Amino acid sequence: MWYQLGAALLLAAAPVRAATDALNPLDEANSTAPWPSSVYSNATDSDNSIVTAGSKSNQTSPPWYPSPWGEGMGDWKAAYTRARSIVSQMTLLEKVNLTTGVGWELERCVGQNGAVPRLGIPSMCTQDSPVGVRDTDYNSVFPMGVNVAATWDRGMARARGAGMGYEHKHKGSNVQLGPVVGPLGRAPEGGRNWEGFAPDPVLSGVLFAETISGIQSQNVIACGKHFIGYEQEHFRSAGNGFLYQVNESYSANLDDVTMHELYLWPWMDGIRAGMGSVMCSYNQINNSYACQNSYILNKLLKAELGFQGFVMSDWSAQMSGVASALAGLDMTMPGDIAFDSGTSYWGSNLTVAVLNGTVPQWRVDDMAVRIMAAWYYVGAGDNYVPINFDSWTLDTYGYQHFYANEGYGVINEHVDVRNNHGALIREIGAASAVLLKNEGALPLTGKEKFTGVFGSDAGASTYGPNGCSDRGCDMGTLGCAWGSGTANFPYLITPGFAIENEIYNHGNGMFQGVYDDYAYSEAESVAGQASVAIVFANSDSGEGYISVDGNIGDRNNLTLWHDGDALIKAVSSQCNNTIVVIHSVGAVLMDSFVDNPNVTAIIWAGVPGEESGNSIVDVLYGKVNPGGKLPFTVGYSRQNYGVDILYKPNSGESAPQLDFTEGQFIDYRGFDKHDVAPLYEFGYGMSYTTFKYSDITITKHNAGKYTATTGKTSKAPVLGQVTNDTSDYTFPDNMSRVPYYIYPYLNSTSLKTSADDPHYDEEGFIPQGAHDGSAQPLLPSSGAPGGNPELWDVLYTVTAKITNTGKIAGDEVAQLYVGLGGPNDVVKQLRGFDRLSIAPGQTVTFTVDLTRRDLSNWNTVTQNWFISDYEKTVYVGASSKNLPLKETIKDASQFN
Ligand SMILES: *[C@@H]1O[C@H](CO)[C@@H](O)[C@H](O)[C@H]1NC(C)=O
Ligand SMILES: *[C@@H]1O[C@H](CO)[C@@H](O)[C@H](O)[C@H]1NC(C)=O
Ligand SMILES: *[C@@H]1O[C@H](CO)[C@@H](O)[C@H](O)[C@H]1NC(C)=O
Ligand SMILES: *[C@@H]1O[C@H](CO)[C@@H](O)[C@H](O)[C@H]1NC(C)=O
Ligand SMILES: *[C@@H]1O[C@H](CO)[C@@H](O)[C@H](O)[C@H]1NC(C)=O
Ligand SMILES: *[C@@H]1O[C@H](CO)[C@@H](O)[C@H](O)[C@H]1NC(C)=O
Ligand SMILES: *[C@@H]1O[C@H](CO)[C@@H](O)[C@H](O)[C@H]1NC(C)=O
Ligand SMILES: *[C@@H]1O[C@H](CO)[C@@H](O)[C@H](O)[C@H]1NC(C)=O
Ligand SMILES: *[C@@H]1O[C@H](CO)[C@@H](O)[C@H](O)[C@H]1NC(C)=O
Repeated sequence: MWYQLGAALLLAAAPVRAATDALNPLDEANSTAPWPSSVYSNATDSDNSIVTAGSKSNQTSPPWYPSPWGEGMGDWKAAYTRARSIVSQMTLLEKVNLTTGVGWELERCVGQNGAVPRLGIPSMCTQDSPVGVRDTDYNSVFPMGVNVAATWDRGMARARGAGMGYEHKHKGSNVQLGPVVGPLGRAPEGGRNWEGFAPDPVLSGVLFAETISGIQSQNVIACGKHFIGYEQEHFRSAGNGFLYQVNESYSANLDDVTMHELYLWPWMDGIRAGMGSVMCSYNQINNSYACQNSYILNKLLKAELGFQGFVMSDWSAQMSGVASALAGLDMTMPGDIAFDSGTSYWGSNLTVAVLNGTVPQWRVDDMAVRIMAAWYYVGAGDNYVPINFDSWTLDTYGYQHFYANEGYGVINEHVDVRNNHGALIREIGAASAVLLKNEGALPLTGKEKFTGVFGSDAGASTYGPNGCSDRGCDMGTLGCAWGSGTANFPYLITPGFAIENEIYNHGNGMFQGVYDDYAYSEAESVAGQASVAIVFANSDSGEGYISVDGNIGDRNNLTLWHDGDALIKAVSSQCNNTIVVIHSVGAVLMDSFVDNPNVTAIIWAGVPGEESGNSIVDVLYGKVNPGGKLPFTVGYSRQNYGVDILYKPNSGESAPQLDFTEGQFIDYRGFDKHDVAPLYEFGYGMSYTTFKYSDITITKHNAGKYTATTGKTSKAPVLGQVTNDTSDYTFPDNMSRVPYYIYPYLNSTSLKTSADDPHYDEEGFIPQGAHDGSAQPLLPSSGAPGGNPELWDVLYTVTAKITNTGKIAGDEVAQLYVGLGGPNDVVKQLRGFDRLSIAPGQTVTFTVDLTRRDLSNWNTVTQNWFISDYEKTVYVGASSKNLPLKETIKDASQFN
């Protein structure tokens, strides 16, 4: 069994750049160009879409130093006091130990740093994934992020976060590698979009923050990922991928406005919610690798957004030692340069770099403080549960140091951590189902004379629910997409099983299931007899280290898999009451069946996790009135989206250039901008009841004017002493070393010998300012975790009335959009939403507080938010296209 897990995981080994070009030069440090500005040029490209001046091939990312030291801002004060106190007692070796993973498959979790046994600090277990605990058993598979987005429900997002956090904690995992807002969902084909929420910064930001709060309420550090611009799988890593050789990861090229108003936005919410850790991504941003890009880590994340936790590399996304340390990386995972190379950019090398003066002591102190602060902030140490599982085998007995074959004993205790999470998973699954079409077919009663169920997506995989490693195949119903963002199923309730059970429980109906997608004549025969035919079809995607049916992570197309359209056609040709249920990672094309009069209902059910069948039964049979809404736009064609994956390298073997020329006009923002009619718009979804919107009001508050933050930071704290005697740092005598393991010690009293680096550079190139530990000027947009706290001042409160005009209780997701009014602004963007449960005949009030941030644009010159003089339009309604209420705000710029 282990080899199956092991084999797929090994594929995840990102081919790394040759060590020779990894350390020097500090690639971005030479650039003196400013961050790409965002003056929108009026040029149009051949697709007639607006080209932003700041998204050009080969553009560079400017240096930004020094790396900001954490100061214990906001509610981090107590955690920082504790962290500084313990780090003050640490030796350099102990601090370095905290920063460096011990190597791939050398401990039991997917990543573990070094411990500090002398001070009772254990090695932290960092473990996938954003849907549960990966690589173990007796755990739950929660609904994917895209389903959480479809619920538009803050409470459910938080409850799911708490459920996942609970499972991590009780397996002994201290850092959950999730949730995800990168990818945000630039292109609908993006392989990992489903791990995140929605291609909208507000919906994503709110749910990201709730999920983080839920996870961290269980004493587990949430690691938000992936920072940033990681919008596709193709070419995310250098090497001989599945088809093309590239020598560098792609560069996401984007401008300052797009960065702030779209991609960075949800990170503000996550940081404000206290996110303890951030994972930097594989890709480059403006041609500088994310884990050593000083502009995005030092400036945006730490200085501007005041991130107080630690930055962890994605697995093998670290590309240099000194450069990444100076650029703001705090922890490297899994720690070794290539998996099990026994070498590290940090470990001994970081000890050397401090001793030879290339990395200032305060920077390593800051790394250690940030790591320990996050640990204390969530209460991980005070509620510590020892690791009781192993990621590399499900066998009870095995090696603790798996790759080294050392430490034989019980490594899997098979602790059941599921609690009662199945009920929550079922509830979220039902709440996330989006009813797209209903010609009176739904809800069903269970007393239908003859129910036919069709498609492999209704049934089980012949290999079992975990038969394909990391869910890397599309067999049976789609309960979990593929890649590292997955977990093993404890069971998977299929739709066919649940529907059959439902009919059985009601007594007399006939039930026939045809689960072969290509058995057209058998399907037609059953459909011809059926009073209701329910066809299940899906579309899958995942992480690019697994290719499924030629889809290298990213989807090749937006059509249903296994010829789903043909099966729907076959069934609906024989049955005038055909219901289509789609399990998919995102938008699919529906034009072949949407207008077919025999297709009487369509439900998009996303990728709902282990309770899939029960969740869909709840909706089909009306036990739950559907209230989910689309967290993305369904277009008529893939061209409608105006953005696509780069499938072929465009820069020879050097870094493919992914130019975000669409700026922030992705998904509905792009459809609106180019006046393209969607089939089903962002925010759309029906109910078994009906709702009416009325009475919009806007109340202005006395918020006052915006204050740019001024002043200076403290100077970099230096904690404890580093001696100059290299013999203090060599391996302890008689220490028994685990083979391949990464340690902080020196091999020799010679630094150069210890580094064992042919490119050891006694001259050294240090970016200007990188060693400066003096007090630094504060950025105007900074001031607290998340950014300038005045951005959350409430300027206006909008209310509207919503009445349930039908006969049954239902949930309505009310939405508020704002048009900021400028010629380059998004036509209207989501700024508020609430999922409201409304009894028949009842009227409730929908209330949205509009903050300063909600009404602001990013000014690339002042490097701050501001409110433009343009009139703001506020829209309230049921979707991005159904906005019956409208009001304007003329005086918002008075708050500047
Ligand atoms: C950066 O500058 C260093 C030192 O001047 C030089 O050796 C190196 O080639 C430059 N790198 C780039 C990418 O221009
Ligand atoms: C682009 O168009 C705007 C509004 O029409 C105009 O004010 C601006 O000068 C134009 N910019 C360029 C670079 O032509
Ligand atoms: C570093 O971490 C390893 C693994 O957890 C541990 O064995 C070693 O004692 C630690 N070294 C120091 C100096 O704390
Ligand atoms: C130090 O880093 C260099 C790459 O920069 C690598 O070649 C070398 O093996 C590392 N040394 C150790 C001891 O891991
Ligand atoms: C200092 O040590 C680091 C880590 O081994 C090495 O990469 C760097 O070249 C060294 N620099 C100097 C100036 O000795
Ligand atoms: C789209 O991709 C799926 C999965 O690889 C495949 O089954 C289907 O045939 C493709 N559709 C088209 C139109 O090529
Ligand atoms: C609809 O179903 C009926 C059978 O009930 C069939 O005769 C008819 O051809 C179907 N129409 C379409 C468009 O498939
Ligand atoms: C659907 O087909 C059934 C039986 O085949 C028939 O009784 C019914 O009238 C048809 N309904 C419509 C709307 O055509
Ligand atoms: C970007 O750089 C690559 C490699 O140097 C080169 O092949 C390509 O033409 C450049 N692209 C542009 C648009 O300058």
